[in-house]
Amino acid sequence: MHTIAIAGAGTVGAALIQSVLASVPIRLKAVLVRDAGKPRPGLPTGLDYVTDPAAILADPEIDTVVELMGGTGAAFELASGALAAGKHLVTANKNLLAERGPELFALARDKGRSIGFEAAVCAGMPVIRALQEALRADRVSAIEGILNGTTNYILTRMAEDNLDYAAALAQAQRLGFAEPDPANDVSGVDAACKLGILAALAFHRRVEWRAIPAQGIQDLQAEDLRQAARMGYRVKLLARAALDQNGRLDSTVGPALIPVGHPLAAVRDEFNALMVASDGFGRNLFMGKGAGPAPTAASLLADILDIAQGRGWPVGADHPFLAGPAPAGAGAAPCRLYLRLAVPDRPGVLAAVAGRFAEAGVSIASVLQPETAGGGGPVLVPLILTTHAAATEAAARLRETLAEPGRPAPVVLPIVDD
Ligand code: NAP
Ligand code: HSE
Repeated sequence: MHTIAIAGAGTVGAALIQSVLASVPIRLKAVLVRDAGKPRPGLPTGLDYVTDPAAILADPEIDTVVELMGGTGAAFELASGALAAGKHLVTANKNLLAERGPELFALARDKGRSIGFEAAVCAGMPVIRALQEALRADRVSAIEGILNGTTNYILTRMAEDNLDYAAALAQAQRLGFAEPDPANDVSGVDAACKLGILAALAFHRRVEWRAIPAQGIQDLQAEDLRQAARMGYRVKLLARAALDQNGRLDSTVGPALIPVGHPLAAVRDEFNALMVASDGFGRNLFMGKGAGPAPTAASLLADILDIAQGRGWPVGADHPFLAGPAPAGAGAAPCRLYLRLAVPDRPGVLAAVAGRFAEAGVSIASVLQPETAGGGGPVLVPLILTTHAAATEAAARLRETLAEPGRPAPVVLPIVDD
């Protein structure tokens, strides 16, 4: 019988152990943890807990190692050690793949072993399989999605309950959607890591997540979501990668305004979604929970069963993680912009702002300064503008020239109309 070891018995590891023991014809031989004496309510007694990775790596009976420890240090040592020892690897660790993926896939290729990683990206929707299998013969031109559940939950609460950013983040943390340190989620880093992995599979080239320009949601206010709604838009943290006419790849992560009728506008709370545009299939939309023990364990189990039944994905020399880097395009196509500035309410301010737009070569489409009680004077008030289509560089110039020392940074968001 196919024999596995599971490294990690935390949120995901515990759920997977229960699933494996409950049903499938898989033998669980050992569970690697930091503390073998820790009480683990919900898990059966009699499991063989080990704390030394060598106990797993040197055991010839173990066919597959399932890495559920997290991080990129000890997890890499274990994952690479397992492949080097001729074992298959299954992992839910997106950071490990984003940071050390090429090394692990090279080892798997050399040893003729499989790496299953369906659970590493948007664990509750089977997009890795879709890209690796169903879409393998099609030419993908663009992928676009909501890849981070924490930020989608925060933006939904800000839009629907009029909560400010800090209150919505606190609620996400109370409900367990956000990490105690949510920096990677709210800064867009988590979505950029996921986009890098998905783009590599979609476009068959290596995509380095650090090369993806990423903007977070920390500077957004409920006012931005209210204004967007008045204009017929929702604000979402969009992750996008698309091939230009020369086959170069443009990728970005950042908040954007999308029309309420756009399929991604209906993706609320902690849900994730991915739209894939390809020549043959046209447009496909995947939607599901991005994380959580149940969907993650189900994805892991499918990978384990595939490997056990000889249907794992052998890593060939042409694997996207081993390919050359995707050539970078010139940046996203020109698009309209939404801006919110904080300005003192006194004569000449609006004229000065308009002058900066003129210098940047960007045409203003609308201006709104909502009435504020007792306005006038040095108190900063919001000034909200939209523009006609502007090139990416012009938007960057505006962001720079509109910044004023001692004032909040201007919020500049693309308006995505298609
Ligand atoms: P977790 O609850 O913190 O559990 C981590 C487990 O790994 C613990 O059992 C811990 O042992 C063990 N561990 C950590 N470092 C170790 C080391 N150096 N040696 C031995 N054991 C070690 O984490 P999690 O939420 O289950 O997440 C695990 C992985 O799944 C991460 O890569 C995460 O990004 C990914 N993931 C999580 C979710 C989710 O919904 N949580 C969804 C998709 C993917 P002790 O119990 O002894 O401390
Ligand atoms: N922190 C991630 C999210 C889930 O909020 O989507 C794990 O990838």
